[in-house]
Amino acid sequence: MSKALIHVTEFKWIWGFIKKYKYMFLTAMVLVVVVNVLNMANPLIQGQIVDRVITDGQTEILPKLVMTMIAITVIKSVIRYIYLMMFENVSQNVVFNARKSIFKRIQELDFEFFDCTRTGDIMARLTGDLEAVRHFTAYVIYQFFMHAITLLFVIIILFTINPLFTLILLAVTPFTGYFAIKLSGKVKPAFSAIREQFSRLNSTVQESISGNRVIKAFAKEDYEIYKFSRENAGFRDRNVEAARIWERYLPVLDSLAGLLSVIIILVGGIMVITGDITLGELVTFNSFIWALNNPMRMVGWLINDAQRFAASAEKIMLLLIREPKIKDSEAAAGISRLKGRVEFRNVDFGYGKELVLKDISFEAYPGQTVAVIGPTGSGKSSLVSLISRFYDCRKGQILIDGRDVREHSLKTLRESVAVAMQEIFLFSDTIEGNIAYGVTGASAERIKWAAGMAEADGFIADFPEGYDTIIGERGVGLSGGQKQRIALARALVKDPAVIILDDTTSSVDIETEHVIHRSLSEFCKNRTTFIIAHRISAVRNADLILVLDQGRIVERGTHEELLALKGHYYSVFVNQYGDFDKQEAFAAGGEAYGKE
Ligand SMILES: Nc1ncnc2c1ncn2[C@@H]1O[C@H](COP(=O)(O)OP(=O)(O)O)[C@@H](O)[C@H]1O
Ligand SMILES: [Mg+2]
Repeated sequence: MSKALIHVTEFKWIWGFIKKYKYMFLTAMVLVVVVNVLNMANPLIQGQIVDRVITDGQTEILPKLVMTMIAITVIKSVIRYIYLMMFENVSQNVVFNARKSIFKRIQELDFEFFDCTRTGDIMARLTGDLEAVRHFTAYVIYQFFMHAITLLFVIIILFTINPLFTLILLAVTPFTGYFAIKLSGKVKPAFSAIREQFSRLNSTVQESISGNRVIKAFAKEDYEIYKFSRENAGFRDRNVEAARIWERYLPVLDSLAGLLSVIIILVGGIMVITGDITLGELVTFNSFIWALNNPMRMVGWLINDAQRFAASAEKIMLLLIREPKIKDSEAAAGISRLKGRVEFRNVDFGYGKELVLKDISFEAYPGQTVAVIGPTGSGKSSLVSLISRFYDCRKGQILIDGRDVREHSLKTLRESVAVAMQEIFLFSDTIEGNIAYGVTGASAERIKWAAGMAEADGFIADFPEGYDTIIGERGVGLSGGQKQRIALARALVKDPAVIILDDTTSSVDIETEHVIHRSLSEFCKNRTTFIIAHRISAVRNADLILVLDQGRIVERGTHEELLALKGHYYSVFVNQYGDFDKQEAFAAGGEAYGKE
């Protein structure tokens, strides 16, 4: 066994959590010692019964001895119950607190963390790994302690009775320990294979539930069942493999335990005959077999459990020490509300090595609308995500009200910027709850007003339960355009200085989009608005249109200026509205030319 039983850092870490309940924990440990002492009593009394009652014929003390044995057994059970409850209590509280800190840390982490971490991995920290921590706190620690103490006590007691006999017995026990440790070493990879397979099985199920619509649409149920059966069979096989290893060693361990009995009867018998020990002492030795054997048998499992704890604790610790890169700067000033002047100065940005945005510069003032258009993947969403500081830029500066976004407090910044994101997420809550999400205590009128602005009021009112309609997970039960309008209403409920609409009306029909933009223009009067859209009709009234291509601003200006350029924007226009000559029809509100 070359590896350390358990790494010191993990132990320190868990002690940090146990410390809060140290009195209960230490009391429970003391009770473990008490039970251990009581455990020693019965075999000793049994020896007394043989020597004094049976051999010497002092029958009058028999009832007293038997009563004592019964009393000790009852007391032991009561104390064991108490300390088990105490360990359970401490461990549940430890896990409660650890779970809380993990969840808090997950909330603090930034976009970058979630970009590169699988949901399943985060869930594993909160489930399997925490369970290993709980098991360690509630069981492994005291078991280690208990077996060590038992072994120590029994060796001392047996030594005082007969050192030679004790030494002979002790010669066998290390073999049990050796095989137990070897077994646990063999079973360990089999056990991690089981856990690994279990998480694969879970992911398969999880994915087929979330993806049920795609599965049905492509009639791939059989394929999914096949995939599941494969993982399911894998899980069964891993378990059978582990059992096979485990069962190969069990007979060895049992034989060694049997060997102890044989030695005791054989050597002990001879010693009784030669008068080295009394018959009662032989009975005592025999009754202590379990106390010699158990710790040796358990040591392998406990080491296994402890290693599993160490591995889980390490993963949890790695998550807990992970620092978000986006955090409040020391210089964050106590400005409570921003006005909304946004300036990009030579901004470069990338998620990995590659730059996604290159040398972006522009300015936007409150009351203005900036539209960003460009092909998919050109960096539009990335550009606006820098305003709320979902990510930090590589080079250059983003200023709001003349101050670097990194010098604003995150709270002020994000309260002042409302975003309707391209990827819509709705909580499984009522429609009202979803719209009011960003503003605690938003009034019913305000919610209704925002829904009205987003042209959502009509379809919400058509639901039998209106605003109290519960939306399923991921917004099941709503069309794409309906979800977009709820997301828009959610952004509008806030009273933002900057409002960002990332492709927010792409799934809404053109007429409705038009109505939304008309009511928005009133709302956005003294705010800075960013609109990302593919339809020229949605951007043509903007004060500034930025045309992005492969992360660069390739054209900029108003609708008329850009048309006159006859470049990218112009060709998009022609694509959507046909010939340039038809521009007049378009200007007259000819949305019918739109190709959607
Ligand atoms: N979270 C992310 N991690 C890594 N790369 C990303 C991420 N989001 C977007 N990208 C990449 O950045 C580029 C620009 O994406 P995006 O800003 O979403 O473009 P658009 O909104 O114009 O479609 C794309 O090449 C895309 O693959
Ligand atoms: Mg986008």
